[in-house]
Amino acid sequence: MSNTTLEYARELDRNDPLAGFRDEFHIPPHKQGQQYYFAGNSLGLQPKQLAAYIQAELDAWRELGVAAHFEGEYPWMPYHEFLRESLASITGALPSEVVAMNTLTTNLHLMLVSFFRPQGRRNKIVIEQQAFPSDRYAVVSQLQHHGLDVDDCLVELVNKDNRLLDDATIEAYLEEHGNEVALVLMPGVQYASGQVLDIARITKAAHTAGAKVGFDLAHAIGNIPLNLHDDACDFAVWCSYKYLNSGPGNIAGCFVHERHSGDPDLIRFSGWWGHDKSSRFRMGENFIPSAGADAWQLSNPSILGLAALRASLDVFIRAGMPALRQKSLQLTGYLRTLLTTELTEELEIITPAAAEQHGCQLSIRLQAGQQDGKKLFTQMEQDGFIGDWREPDILRISPVPLYNRFEDVWQLVNYIKEYLRR
Ligand SMILES: Cc1ncc(COP(=O)(O)O)c(C=O)c1O
Repeated sequence: MSNTTLEYARELDRNDPLAGFRDEFHIPPHKQGQQYYFAGNSLGLQPKQLAAYIQAELDAWRELGVAAHFEGEYPWMPYHEFLRESLASITGALPSEVVAMNTLTTNLHLMLVSFFRPQGRRNKIVIEQQAFPSDRYAVVSQLQHHGLDVDDCLVELVNKDNRLLDDATIEAYLEEHGNEVALVLMPGVQYASGQVLDIARITKAAHTAGAKVGFDLAHAIGNIPLNLHDDACDFAVWCSYKYLNSGPGNIAGCFVHERHSGDPDLIRFSGWWGHDKSSRFRMGENFIPSAGADAWQLSNPSILGLAALRASLDVFIRAGMPALRQKSLQLTGYLRTLLTTELTEELEIITPAAAEQHGCQLSIRLQAGQQDGKKLFTQMEQDGFIGDWREPDILRISPVPLYNRFEDVWQLVNYIKEYLRR
């Protein structure tokens, strides 16, 4: 059987041990039936269980009022602790190194306050030239906050071919100029290209240079295996509405390596929820930090948001990250195979092919150019094939192992083929 037939795709679905998880998600409808959804890199789909987890907390509020902070199955006071083991498992961290809180950009600022401590000539922040705009805005404003000259102190490493960032480019820069670098901030998965960066390698290079290093894992968490503790970066931040499927704008999280826990010299913007919980309600005037990442919490968190995240993490824990990654490599590999066998003349795939350098997403360019690429994207949306578009010319397609089928991938490639040959 040729691997370009629909029958072959269906055979792959029949043999998929994770196929049943698709039924645990709401797949949005489309006027011609059902959508083919490939935008999990932007907004993950809703787990069917999520509403019940939120309803349980609405019930607790209705039945118990303020007492729900201490009573019920999942009391609100320690609610964030019910997510700790799952987050640690997905990020390869110790439970004390992770916490669910705030939103990504807020957490990035909190981390920069603690880990960007310019001193003398060591006052530069290194990012990539195509960093996500919010990350760039955050580091620029932090430089300004320290009274530093942005032109002088912001280093934007140029991506190879203007699209991919080479780990070796980062290493080479740090070897040569490392004594001027205070902090390196890189993505775990680059949002436009889908390229996976080597967290362990970049961390080692930054630390050898005497700099701190953090990662934006917006596109990495729930997508690729992570080993944050062993890879030993200083901090990481993420959101939970992409591959983690916890809902639009929902509560984010961060990782702080355990070697920073209890460091009395660390500067931190503090709030009462970061205060040691055993004495928090004595309402004392001095801040006593909690152990681990919990110390960076500011406010009491949205329980409805945490409940949604707990629902989505529970799905991940049942499926297991190793099994999800195995299917993801097969599913995205299948997309690449179909695109390269069927549409090699028409498309360029920017995302690297090596397994360790990609996650779910493939970033695609139409050889015909930007205008035609955008037209294809717009038509795809109308016809129920949902990817997303990043200027100037990138179509991002992310088959997600929890809810996408091999048949979805086949239908998409068949659609693009028919569209381009019309
Ligand atoms: C790579 C990356 N970093 C940061 C952000 C900003 O996230 P937030 O709006 O949750 O702060 C996003 C949002 O899509 C992103 O994709």
